[in-house]
Amino acid sequence: GVSVPPHLAGSGPSDLGKVSGGWLGPTPPPKCLLVPESQRFDCYPERRVVVTQELCESRGCCFIQSPPLAEGKQGVPWCFYPPDFPSYALESLNQTALGMVGVLVRREKAYYPRDIEKLRLDVEFETDTRLHIKITDAANPRYEVPLDVPRVTKRAENPIYSLNFSWDPFGVLLQRKATGAVLLNTTVAPLIFADQFLQISTSLPSKFLYGLGEHRDSFLHSLDWNTLTFWARDVAPTESFNLYGAHPFYLLMEEGGNAHGVFLLNSNAMEVALQPAPGLTWRTIGGVLDFYIFLGPDPNMVIQQYQQVIGKCPHPNTAICRHLLHAHIPDAQWNDIDYMDGYRDFTLDSQKFTSLPSLVEDLHKHGQRYVMILDAGISSTSPHGSYWPFDEGLRRGLFLNTTKGQPLIGQVWPGFTAFPDFSNPDTHQWWLENLQHFYAHVPFDGVWIDMNEPSNFMDGSEDGCPPGELDSPPYTPAVLGDSLSAKTVCASAEQKASVHYNLHNLYGLMEAKATASALVRIRGKRPFLVSRSTFPSQGRYSGHWLGDNRSHQWKDMYYSIPGLLSFSLFGIPLVGADICGFSGSTSEELCTRWMQLGAFYPFSRNHNTQNEQAQDPTAFSPAARTAMKDVLLTRYSLLPFLYTLFHRAHLQGDTVARPLFFEFPRDVATWELDRQFLWGQSLLVTPVLEPGVDSVTGYIPQGTWYDFYTVRNPCLSPEPSHPCPSLPAQGSSLNSSGEMLKMSAPLEHLNLHVRGGSILPTQKPGTTTGVTRGNPLRLIVALSSHATAWGDLFWDDGESLDTFEKGNYSYVVFNVTQVGCGGEGRSGGPMATKVTIGTLSIFGVQKPPSKVLLNGQEKPFSYLDNQVWPHFRVPFAGRGSPC
Ligand code: NOJ
Repeated sequence: GVSVPPHLAGSGPSDLGKVSGGWLGPTPPPKCLLVPESQRFDCYPERRVVVTQELCESRGCCFIQSPPLAEGKQGVPWCFYPPDFPSYALESLNQTALGMVGVLVRREKAYYPRDIEKLRLDVEFETDTRLHIKITDAANPRYEVPLDVPRVTKRAENPIYSLNFSWDPFGVLLQRKATGAVLLNTTVAPLIFADQFLQISTSLPSKFLYGLGEHRDSFLHSLDWNTLTFWARDVAPTESFNLYGAHPFYLLMEEGGNAHGVFLLNSNAMEVALQPAPGLTWRTIGGVLDFYIFLGPDPNMVIQQYQQVIGKCPHPNTAICRHLLHAHIPDAQWNDIDYMDGYRDFTLDSQKFTSLPSLVEDLHKHGQRYVMILDAGISSTSPHGSYWPFDEGLRRGLFLNTTKGQPLIGQVWPGFTAFPDFSNPDTHQWWLENLQHFYAHVPFDGVWIDMNEPSNFMDGSEDGCPPGELDSPPYTPAVLGDSLSAKTVCASAEQKASVHYNLHNLYGLMEAKATASALVRIRGKRPFLVSRSTFPSQGRYSGHWLGDNRSHQWKDMYYSIPGLLSFSLFGIPLVGADICGFSGSTSEELCTRWMQLGAFYPFSRNHNTQNEQAQDPTAFSPAARTAMKDVLLTRYSLLPFLYTLFHRAHLQGDTVARPLFFEFPRDVATWELDRQFLWGQSLLVTPVLEPGVDSVTGYIPQGTWYDFYTVRNPCLSPEPSHPCPSLPAQGSSLNSSGEMLKMSAPLEHLNLHVRGGSILPTQKPGTTTGVTRGNPLRLIVALSSHATAWGDLFWDDGESLDTFEKGNYSYVVFNVTQVGCGGEGRSGGPMATKVTIGTLSIFGVQKPPSKVLLNGQEKPFSYLDNQVWPHFRVPFAGRGSPC
């Protein structure tokens, strides 16, 4: 190891010792003046206390007052660590089979109770691109997140990183070998490890930091003294609040376009403080410091590597990808809590919903799906005397208990409720039985799990929360409501696996796990599930909607894009916001623009609260309705492409809705973009996010891009031997050097561009997913400037379990080179014969071809405006050439 001076990443002398104007007290000690403002790590983060010099110095810290900022804004901390603040020292370090083990010792106590003197450091070089560093109590076991993470058995041979330590004070120094970039340097502030206060800080190699959810923020986080809090909470998404889920993971873009990611596997209430140094502080109130670091080197690889640890999403279910069908008929019908009797889970309102079973039967006859909501809280009172879910849950002892061993009672929609303890395997069995009983009446196709932070309309319980260090810890992160029990259950509540204090952020994950496995047991098909509360590895079980946004606010539509992109980073590709907003009343213009954007949410659903202006397409003028219907049909036409992207997400952890910089990591101009996104590598979506405009300015990365509307369906006739009678100008393309472009965007138009070099499998859209899936494919080939293109297609029956593992699917790679085009595939089982290429259109052809051959045989074709359109139809079975 090497010794590193505490402020390795120091900025220039210009801001050294700058004492801001408002400071009044005696001259601070020189060691304090030496710390530049941007590198002052907060020694007094308690929000409810205005720190004084006395309080600050009682902790042994430096006090320099800066001018106060506007209400609610954070600035330079007044109380910060001096360079010599006591930390741990590395006492020993030994090699192990997978890495190293060390002992860290603190000689002077820090200021939080139950400060742990001796820590154990475990380092595992897990792969060449993944490093695992864990710091925990050397003497006593502590709570750890019960997540199945892969264990490696062999040490990485050629890591692309180098790791060094500072011995005293202890610090981790991680570098990327290829560039020398310092990815982590934790000597910038002391390490603190008390029972209920764990803190570690690091310098960052750039200010381009993403992830850290769930929050309402721009995709790129500001490092201007920005604190993000992690504690699952039911609240309408608002800037700077802790929201429904907790994802302690960030991705950072390094100078030159490399990327790395850091995941802190910890489920306790937590804060991440970002500062302009650039620097970052992890502050959690329990568990251990268990870090996984992913070295990429490109951002796609970082997200793939992250999902190798937390798990990948399952194969898509054909119900998931689509929601609204023809503008008048939904492809899937959803029910909110109104279907229930008194808002009790697993019941039916006997007045308004007696016909639900036959309605569901009817939906199924028409190839449609039915999804209903389930809330986490189980009614603990019943007007009818008995209510099996509660009575049986009570009998089996499956609810969260108070410290006195009684079920904890809170209040949600049905009134008083108990909360199932999903950390108990017996609860999974009871949940399954509940779902089975309900399914016998209403054969649902999927479940929407809500209020699972868990949400509670009371703080803690009907009796509040007991005194003690779980409900009133020595340090409470800056959670909304200033209390861990604000609008949820008491942190002291007892669960099978641990106390709620530790498990709170896992509630939605554990409920999703129970629900997904019940759905598989009941239906024998791929489960379809969306959850409001989420935690890393959630993508294995469910998708997510972005919560209770507002129907009347344009900014809520914008924020859905950073939301989508962040959940792409978190390994939950099935994500979308309530299209046209949840609360309040929308306008025709906003809702039309939102339907256009929402048609490209991977999880696409229009949902709003009751008693507000209706916002389904039929509620609007014929023109708006047509625009909405058009864009939904466009989505349907792209289902083979979307489905294939989900397959890739399942297989290797690729993102579906993708930030532009994932495809253009060396183009710094893409790093801040969060008003546009891509589907996979090749479809660029540039929505209008403002009122009263008929154009949109968007970034078009370098290369050839084709206007989607001039390449789609020149002729919707499925009979390719009859060319369309008249073709509009086709394949209009633009060559960008990487520029912001102003594009026409009248209300009925969503800008969509296909990247040159790609092949999109599309289909003529039908009135349901099932009908669409029966139509022959149309391949759109958008040539690059070198006249090449690539694309792929995954196809199976869309719902059976393990089709991939059993080989019952087709996977075809389409390739265009200068010498011709071809397809190569793997397939087997009954699905192999089900894919037919109906038409193929090649755009960007510079000269008319003299002939077109299919498997050596000449075929008729059309050539117009740089487009070649051969006339044939190929059932794709096994190996062969569809082109
Ligand atoms: C809150 C959910 O976020 C929302 O989507 C739902 O409509 C309401 N709960 C009522 O169930």
